[in-house]
Amino acid sequence: LSHTTDLLEQLGQARLVPVVVLEDAVDAAPLAEALVAGGLAVAEVTFRTEAALAAIQTIAARGDVLLGAGTVLRPDQVDAAVDAGAQYIVSPGLSEPVVRRAAERGVLALPGTVTATEIQAALEAGLRAVKYFPAGTSGGAPAIKALSAPFPEVQFVPTGGVGPANLGDYLSLPSVLAVGGSWMVPKDVIAAGDFEQITALTAEAVQLAAG
Ligand code: 3PG
Repeated sequence: LSHTTDLLEQLGQARLVPVVVLEDAVDAAPLAEALVAGGLAVAEVTFRTEAALAAIQTIAARGDVLLGAGTVLRPDQVDAAVDAGAQYIVSPGLSEPVVRRAAERGVLALPGTVTATEIQAALEAGLRAVKYFPAGTSGGAPAIKALSAPFPEVQFVPTGGVGPANLGDYLSLPSVLAVGGSWMVPKDVIAAGDFEQITALTAEAVQLAAG
């Protein structure tokens, strides 16, 4: 799937994935604008709120944001996300039906895996890249490094407990494609409508990831 390879390349270039939880779809447009202004045209919009689908549609309409749907737990959510314009699918764990539906729809699936058994299951499902979630409480960068010994071909996107203080630990590993997290897009900052702060947090993260 060359489309999937393309997408992995774009994630690898971005190095950072803001994990977005939107309570109100009206925030989607200024949020996307704030991320782009901070130098990061990437967003993973999670299916944790009613606003998710409308937010995905709004951000997809820009055409310049690498757009994932997160917290995708069921195949019907894959369809809804892809129909709304999501380019890839992220799940907290590994669901074979979700991975299969993503493949059927021609989009990349990034399921969460933290054990060797889960990684083997992802490989058997035809995947070469996985989310590593929750990264911080699952052993962090040393665990990913250890898992890369038997799985040198697997690329990881650690998410959960990642922030400015430790993103470099992850990004310095050759097996880490990108890191994800909510620290660039805190819920309370979005609720307050402080999109300048989102841009500042994003720009700071971009600078750290480049360093
Ligand atoms: C996720 O879904 O990946 C997490 O909610 C993001 O974790 P964080 O809030 O610790 O960054």
